[in-house]
Amino acid sequence: MPIKVNLASSDPLSTAVDVVVIGVPEGASTGEGVLARLVEALGESVARQVKRDDFMGKKDQSIDFATHGALKPGRVLLLGLGGGKITDVDCRVLAAKGARFANGVRAESVAVAVPPGVERGERAAAEGLVLGAYRFTRYLTGDRVPKVALSRGTVVVEGKPGKAARDAVALGQQVGEAICVARDLVNEPPNELYPEALARVAAALGKQRGLKVTVFDKAALTRRGMKLIMAVGQGSAREPRLVHMIYAPPGKPKGKLAFVGKGLTFDSGGLCIKPAPGMEEMKGDMGGAANVVALMTAVAALKPNVEVHGIIGAAENMPDGAAYRPGDIFGSLDGRTVEIINTDAEGRLVLADCLAYARALKPDLIVDNATLTGACMVALGPTVSGFFTNREELADRVRSAAKAAGESMWQMPLVEELREGLKSDWADIRHTAERWGGAITAALFLREFVGDTPWVHVDIAGPSMASKPYGIVSKGGTGHGVLTFLRLIEGFTG
Ligand code: BES
Ligand code: MN
Ligand code: ZN
Repeated sequence: MPIKVNLASSDPLSTAVDVVVIGVPEGASTGEGVLARLVEALGESVARQVKRDDFMGKKDQSIDFATHGALKPGRVLLLGLGGGKITDVDCRVLAAKGARFANGVRAESVAVAVPPGVERGERAAAEGLVLGAYRFTRYLTGDRVPKVALSRGTVVVEGKPGKAARDAVALGQQVGEAICVARDLVNEPPNELYPEALARVAAALGKQRGLKVTVFDKAALTRRGMKLIMAVGQGSAREPRLVHMIYAPPGKPKGKLAFVGKGLTFDSGGLCIKPAPGMEEMKGDMGGAANVVALMTAVAALKPNVEVHGIIGAAENMPDGAAYRPGDIFGSLDGRTVEIINTDAEGRLVLADCLAYARALKPDLIVDNATLTGACMVALGPTVSGFFTNREELADRVRSAAKAAGESMWQMPLVEELREGLKSDWADIRHTAERWGGAITAALFLREFVGDTPWVHVDIAGPSMASKPYGIVSKGGTGHGVLTFLRLIEGFTG
């Protein structure tokens, strides 16, 4: 069960919880504020500990105290907020770190104090509590099952909270849980989460939340001419799927947006098989699709006045007697033929058919996201995604949405000179070029399938999974991208 978050107006140090987390601005001292109160309640040892740790509220500094019954919370965790303006992004991180700490000390309840005057602070704190409490324990048994569940969260505010604040906390809980859906899907093992299973989860969650969902099975994909999705999936014992989810607002929509996700439930590389070390991580090659499912459930809770379409292409890339080969030529939903060069560049093929499908919906914007290239990770490191767009004005929108969401996204160029590398002697186009600029040539290939439609491609190969927790992120699947996409959608409303 996920943590249940509520809202309370009380003094954080008088809240009856196992752990309370409080943000402390830079320049804090035991002479004033929360530290002074802690000295008064817990004694001089607090001052000694603060001095020893040199705690003064610098960004990312932390210090914690056990209260031994002297205060209502069992433990108090103080986190440095640094010197700048405090934003909702800081509140989300504060809450997530608090919940993670609470999990670590086997707490059942955690409260986070939202600093006064932070716009959207309550919602972000609720999101952070849910995200920080997240653990993937489904396949643990016996001793490995956590003994205690962090089941209660409280967002503590100053003054009497109104309906707006309560609604914000409820929405934050739902958005947080949506991102945990993406994390769960990424963390699920590939023997359990194959394309049909992914489609089933997407359909069930979508329908539960009142979305329209259509699943295309093998016969439907064949009938429709989605030859590239079929090609990638043909070496697997598991059939590919395409899922189309639709959120339609009650009133007249202000626009139509389409989000597309790469859903490789496992990417062995196919006949161009990957090296064994690290291959298990390719269970997460459906991070883009997981984000789209998560986003659609969050959209159903947010209820923006825009029409939102979610499209996921799900397949498993395996080597087999029936697998597609280098040298093969396939048609596509778009109509053009593609020469296969490297069967490990499968994601762009699946996306090509998804993008052609999305384009036919005539949306105002297509955003695709995919764990597409190792090259993007080489360029930007494991915590930053790269985005490309065919409209410069969209780049500003993505940049500001990502900044507001607290996610790191960096614009990458569509270098026209590299387009030449995709020319084929035997088909209309080939799907890979030279090694250099690998993230760029992948994006250039995708661009071929969106026509004139305003389009953004986000390569999430790095941040879709994490090798260790940081900020709001847990180890394993992260859901990186969902918060930015939500912000982008909010930017298109009214
Ligand atoms: N799914 C991988 C990209 C990837 C690598 C994601 C590491 C996350 C972590 C993708 O399908 C792939 O194999 N890309 C190749 C493309 C190459 C064959 C042109 C790559 O990046 O090496
Ligand atoms: Mn691959
Ligand atoms: Zn892949």
